[in-house]
Order: sequence, then C-alpha cells, then structure tokens
Amino acid sequence: MNVMMHRYDAVVVGAGGAGLMAALHLAQQGISTAVISKLYPTRSHTGTAQGGIGAALGNMEEDRWEWHAFDTIKGSDYLADQDAVEIMCREAVDCVYFLEHMGLPFDRTSNGRIMQRRFGGHTNNITGEPVRRACHAADRTGHMILQTLYQQCIRYGVRFFNEFFLTDLILTGEPFDPDTRCVGVVALEIQTGLLHIFHSKATLLATGGFGRIFKVTSNAHTLTGDGCAVVWRRGIPLEDMEFYQFHPTGIYKMGILLSEAARGEGAYLRNGVGERFMERYAPKLMELAPRDLISRAIYLEIREGRGVDSKDYVHLDLRHLPKEVLEKKLPDITEFVRTYLGLNPEVDPVPIQPTAHYAMGGIPTNVDGQVVLDENNNPLWGLYAAGECACVSVHGANRLGTNSLVDILVFGRRAGLHMAEFCKVADFTPPPQNPERATKELIERFMKNNDSNDKMSKIRRELQQVMMDKASVLRTGDDLRDCLEKVRELKERHLLARIDDKSNAFNLDLIEALELGYLLDCAEALVASALNRTESRGAHYREDYPQRDDSTWLKHTLVYLKNGELEFRYKPVVITKYQPAERKY
Ligand code: FUM
Repeated sequence: MNVMMHRYDAVVVGAGGAGLMAALHLAQQGISTAVISKLYPTRSHTGTAQGGIGAALGNMEEDRWEWHAFDTIKGSDYLADQDAVEIMCREAVDCVYFLEHMGLPFDRTSNGRIMQRRFGGHTNNITGEPVRRACHAADRTGHMILQTLYQQCIRYGVRFFNEFFLTDLILTGEPFDPDTRCVGVVALEIQTGLLHIFHSKATLLATGGFGRIFKVTSNAHTLTGDGCAVVWRRGIPLEDMEFYQFHPTGIYKMGILLSEAARGEGAYLRNGVGERFMERYAPKLMELAPRDLISRAIYLEIREGRGVDSKDYVHLDLRHLPKEVLEKKLPDITEFVRTYLGLNPEVDPVPIQPTAHYAMGGIPTNVDGQVVLDENNNPLWGLYAAGECACVSVHGANRLGTNSLVDILVFGRRAGLHMAEFCKVADFTPPPQNPERATKELIERFMKNNDSNDKMSKIRRELQQVMMDKASVLRTGDDLRDCLEKVRELKERHLLARIDDKSNAFNLDLIEALELGYLLDCAEALVASALNRTESRGAHYREDYPQRDDSTWLKHTLVYLKNGELEFRYKPVVITKYQPAERKY
C-alpha cells in the first residue's frame, strides 16, 4: 500500500460549520491550511440545520446576551461550564454579523434587520416570556451557513481534500507525556484506497457527532463519531458522553428533523386524545420548553397510552398556522411532510417521535479549542477540536435549540485563531516513523476476515436497535447493563466480520466497517458513562435515580480507554454567577 505525504501548517478534519469557520480564520491569517473531508464540503451535516442561530441581537424585542447565557445554563441543567457559556453568548452576536458581512442571506424584518424567531427555552429573564432570538434564513439556516463559509474558504485559498477518510492521529508519544505533540493525521483516500499522511503544526478535529448509533435519528449516514473514536483509541478521554439529546419532532419512524422553528412559529404538540399535553409538563413555555423535557413528555404520554391510535407517536399540529408562514418561513419542513409522509400540513396533523439528534459530550477542550487531557485541563499541544465532536462544555446535560450553530461558529473561530497564533511561533515537529502502521494493520485485518458470515450491516442494525431500546430517552441501570454487554459482544463480532469487497477503489464496504468501529466505540463510551452516572440530569434520565443529585454529580465525566478497560475521572463544573437551581418552565 503506497503512502502519500503532505505538509500544511494547519490541518482541519471535517468541513462542516466548525471546520470551515476555523479554516477561514486560519487562511485569513495567511496560514497554509488543508481541510480533509469524507464528503464534498457542502454535503456536511451543518447543511441540514434548519431553524436558526441564537444570538441576542434584540431586533424584534429587548434581548441581552446575559439572558441567552442564563437560558443556556438553565437548559443545560447547570452542567455547562459558565465561563465558556458567557464567551459563547457574547461572541454569538459578532459571529452573526460576521456571517452577514460574508454574504449569508438572512431573512429580514420590514426595516431591513436580521429577522429572529422563538425557540425552546429562549426567554426574557425578567418576565419569563419567550423571546425571539433565533436568526434564520427560512428553515435552511445551516445550508446557507455552509454555502457562505465554503465560498469564503475558496476565496482565501484553503486547500480541500474531499472524500478523504480519517483513520488515525499522529502523536509523537503517549498523550500524557508533557513533550507529546499532535503532528497531523492519517487519512484514506476513498477514490484510490491510498493512505495519506498529513503532517501539520496544528490539527483540528471537527468531525461532527455520532447519532448513527441510534435507530431513529436526524443524523446523516455519515455521522459516525470518527474524531471521537480516533482520539479515544489514543488514550485521550471523552467527556460527558452520557448526555445525548433526542429532538422531540422527528418524522415518525424515519427520524428526519421537523425543525423546532415550527413550534417557534406557533405549532402545537397533541397526543392521541387531542390534548396539548405540554400543559402538564411545562405550563408556561408549553411547546417551547427545552428538548429534554418535551422528549421525555412524549415518551411518558405514549407509555400511558396516549400516543396516537395507542401507537408510539404523537402529532405536530401546524394546521392553524397561516399558509404564508408555512410557505415562507417553513418551506423545507412543509416539503418534507409532503414528500416523506404524503400529508399536507395545512390540513393533516403530522406524526412525530423523538429522534436522536445531538451529542452534548465529546472530546474535551478549553475555550480556545485545545484538546485537554484531564481534570486540570492540561492541553495536548497541537491538537484541537470544535463543533459537535468537541465538549467545551457549553451544552452541559441538555443543549438549547440553535446553540449548536452558535457553538460551531464561536468555537470554530476561536480554535482557528488560536491555531493561527500557534502556527506562527511553532516549528514542524517530525512525525514518528510509519505513522500509518496501525491503519494498515486494521485494514489488512478486515480484508483477510473470511471465516465469519457476520455482516457489518447486521451488526450496525443490532447496535442501533439496542441503543434505541435501552439507552435512549428513558434509562434504567438494568437496561444500560444489558446494553453495554450487547455493545461489547458486537465489538468482538465486528473485528471478525467479513467485508465482501476486497478492492481498493471506492471500497465502501471497508469504509462502512471502519465507521462501524467508530460507532461501537462511541456507544460503549456513552452507555458506560450513563450506567456510571446514578442521577437524572438534562437528557440523561435514569428511572431508577429520578432526581438530580448536585452533591455527588455536579461534575463532568471523563471516560478513558486504557488497555481495553474503561476508567472514569471527573472534572469540576465552572460556576461563575449562576447558582444551580431547580428548573421550572
Ligand atoms: O429544530 C431545529 O431547527 C434544530 C435546531 C438545533 O438543533 O439547534
């Protein structure tokens, strides 16, 4: 197998919003920058983000970034690091104007300002009433962000390596050795099967989430936790993996997202007897309560027999919305309902169920995107992470709607700027010999597996089913134990399973096998962390421990993989001025 070498000051893995924002800021500083992406960049998952970017512009009514910060912290069930949240909410405003100046076609008010809409948990902190904070381009906001950033990256000379698949990090030593540096990555070129070594001074992982561990998900097929798994295998911890968000309104059985913007524009949730059941769970904010509360409420309604036709779904009701709102402000989701369900949202209630949507946890970083190794935030020099694969932590136990776009823009930019400064002063550190060795061994192993008839697709399906059944919205210790046992069985089977295609060019069997390995690692980290955390907080709801327990668990989980065994450590939550309190909506 031939190996190709490349050298760039900065290498960014992933071409979603976080990766492109970082790459653009690097290139604007004159840093030679390569972006490696397993997709064509504008197909990245940021492009599916619908409803908006939260920023306290105050264009529709009074708003303040401090209110955005408090809403985020309360929404996080007080697990978010408050210093990071304050940075995010303050800088969100500037990031929105930056995108506007780069050409993003936001919707406008009649006086030409960026238009904003309501979203779950966004409030006026004085009255508690909903506030319009989500800046939007119809329900295609992520699509517009991606197009805008990609064009600007091309303009500034970022070099793109499209359809290159991340297989390994290049470290100069063990991660905890203080002299160790990250000096690049190994990637597989999908078209040829060649391995490439990207040697760099600074490397950013912006590889997105891992929603494909679940059966019903809003995530694209490509969301397989590549960055998270690659660092974890190298001894770097993952943080707060137990907190996985289910978005309340996915199309029934398909999981395709129907944006919260629908409820922001006034849509209702109704159970099988036609009730707006959120009245029982969040009497003030109703359908605009945070996602963890609504998803749990839907599960409870269904369990109590109030699903529609006693089945496992409820309705999103848009029938009372003006036709113009559907056509102008919610055109994509209106189209999705027509295309995927054959229904007309003007006259038909829409069957929905919670859909696996967003990982609050991931690769631990500081507020400049540097990957940190422990509870003291010691960084691994040269390695950065941003976006959904990272955990800074601004979402804590439950993310507010629109804050994923805020996170990728603010922390993508901060990572890019920090990397640029680092690249200006750092020299290239030579990589170790044959950094591609581990990748070669793994690929050869899959190519040689001929004895088993176990298929990757079967293992993946079993993983997605058990995660959905036992580790989704409502969890118990018994279910999580069963689930962990099953995930470990699947991991063993995965290493022995066969792939039929033994060729080099466009070997998607091989890519599927590698991706499945990443999914299994993420699932193991998630389930073990969920079993370990004996309380309920945000999206992590343990029926056997239904209360939040600040005395024991107001702390972040760090889970390490050491010689095949898992080890837990904990990191304190940063509290600035918002003292943990009971959440009421
Ligand atoms: O509902 C939505 O439009 C999703 C937004 C988000 O996940 O932040």
